[in-house]
Amino acid sequence: MDLRIRSFEQYQHDYSKSITQPDLFWDGIASTFKWKKKWNSVVEWNFNDPKIEWFKGGQLNITENLLDRHLEKDGNKIAFHWEANHPNDISKSITYRELYHEVCKLANGLKSLGVKKGDRVCIYMPMVLESVVSILACARIGAVHSIIFAGFSSNALEDRIIDAKAKVVITADGLNRGDKKVDLKSMVDIAIETCSSIENVIVLNCLNSSPTVVSKRDIDYHHLIESQKNECEAEIMDAEDMLFILYTSGSTGKPKGVVHTCGGYMVYTSYSFQNVFQYEENDVFWCTADIGWITGHSYIVYGPLLSGATSVIFEGIPTYPDGGRFWQIIDKYKVNQFYTAPTAIRSLMSFDENLVTKQDLSSLKLIGSVGEPINEEAWNWYYEKIGKSNCPLIDTWWQTETGGVMLSGLGGISPMKATYAGYPLPGIDPVLLDNEGKEIHEADTEGYLCIKFPWPSMLRTTYGDHERCKNTYFSNYNGYYFTGDGAKRDENGMFRIIGRVDDVINVSGHRFGTAEIEDAINKNKYAIESAVVGYPHTIKGQGIYAYVVIGNIEGDEQEIINSISESVSKFIGKIAKPDKIQLVKGLPKTRSGKIMRRILRKIAEGELSNFGDTSTLLDPSLIEDIIKGVKG
Ligand code: PRX
Repeated sequence: MDLRIRSFEQYQHDYSKSITQPDLFWDGIASTFKWKKKWNSVVEWNFNDPKIEWFKGGQLNITENLLDRHLEKDGNKIAFHWEANHPNDISKSITYRELYHEVCKLANGLKSLGVKKGDRVCIYMPMVLESVVSILACARIGAVHSIIFAGFSSNALEDRIIDAKAKVVITADGLNRGDKKVDLKSMVDIAIETCSSIENVIVLNCLNSSPTVVSKRDIDYHHLIESQKNECEAEIMDAEDMLFILYTSGSTGKPKGVVHTCGGYMVYTSYSFQNVFQYEENDVFWCTADIGWITGHSYIVYGPLLSGATSVIFEGIPTYPDGGRFWQIIDKYKVNQFYTAPTAIRSLMSFDENLVTKQDLSSLKLIGSVGEPINEEAWNWYYEKIGKSNCPLIDTWWQTETGGVMLSGLGGISPMKATYAGYPLPGIDPVLLDNEGKEIHEADTEGYLCIKFPWPSMLRTTYGDHERCKNTYFSNYNGYYFTGDGAKRDENGMFRIIGRVDDVINVSGHRFGTAEIEDAINKNKYAIESAVVGYPHTIKGQGIYAYVVIGNIEGDEQEIINSISESVSKFIGKIAKPDKIQLVKGLPKTRSGKIMRRILRKIAEGELSNFGDTSTLLDPSLIEDIIKGVKG
């Protein structure tokens, strides 16, 4: 169903309707999907408990909307072109009908293992088609998927499996990433040693390595599906039944499981996909994210398939075998919409320009950015060199919690302004709040970015801990959803994201809580205490700077630093390794024992004076010591 807005005037009209008559607006959009039973009310909500219900009383199965619905007209249409890690490896394409049958077979396979509606299934997989099949097989039978990015360590995996009490893990023997191979199965083996909830591990053969098999528990993926029927009745789900859990980092404690539900998520991901990317039938769309992040969930899997799109999925990385890999893939599949992260752009800008100019890239109609602020230099390069100055560049701001894009231009329709995400999508009511929590209405201003009204794909809770959801998102400012970001709004009402205002850092578009990295460091035998802050990094956006108190240990400093770095790899994953580790005697604290992060942030940023008010510092001499040992 075509849900596209065609002009800026229509956008203004639809936006206004969505704010003044949200029920009517969303009722119209939702009616274009296939429901087993219509809803009784469009939205019921309060941001105090919080309680958010969309399309209550409605029943559906999302997979019927993204597979069955397309079979008659588009069964032979390509759903995905899968591009392997290396250009010489064999790539594959899968039609909607083939995908449908694969999903049904695995859904039946899961059922044969006793997986039922509401059970949690953890997916720890490479970027292969079977990952999509696994996600959809869960959704087909009403099981809740919890995808863990395959760059997380076994400890991180273990924490998430325990929190979700997952029954099954779907994984692979390993994966290809550039010139490296990563062993996934043995990570799973270690992770689940302590996870009593796990009954089975389904293992896809990707590398032809022969992983250890624990009999009865471990099952070969292909063996499981080979004798299964290729039809599987879709489980009937209430609109507010859980669709998936996705863990994400916050400013405190362990990562939390953000919960998304079936009806609202379906409506919003499809609506936002078609509008933001202005996807037209027969276009080829490519989102380079990993399926393990929300961007992959919403804009590789759900949004495109719900809209009957053809997409590219890429197994590898942008710099292998060389920095022209993305541009070569765009030409190979004649990609029309290309969606990536600023980190990738910044890294690819540094390669020989010939890698870009030797490709045609004329298929591109739109280019997009997501995950972190895009700096002006990267914006201009992307727009001029890749978009040839004639493709709209959309900068899309959103979060794991929002489920779909919130602030963004609609490709080719809305005005563009370098480094600005732009206007809210219909249905999204953003406000800027001041320090007192009052709405700021003046033009050209900055504040804390909050959302005033629910939208269909917003998080409903954090798994197993509703209080945490309330405290994290709904308690800072009464009556608002707090995003954790600071933003600027210009005189025309366009938004620009400044960055996180809490203790969350965004490294290469990957989100980490400083507390989470500190916890990992503090488990190291040398570490007594630590403080982690972000600092500007030319490629990654933000780098991780760790100050670690180690006491009076005599030893090789580099060895200690390596050991601390290894602890972060072990407890979180290589992706969270600090860029800089400085060993210190103590951390600057106030008399009441609070670490003065503001000062540590300044030092990490290279600003070694003007620390503002330091009168509450317990031991000012520590600052001098830290400055002396600062890591350049
Ligand atoms: O700080 C914002 C930043 O990424 C955070 C959300 O991270 P995550 O849940 O991992 O989702 C990332 C992909 C949707 C936000 O709070 N962020 C995301 N997109 C942008 C952004 N910052 C600036 N500009 C963006 N376009």
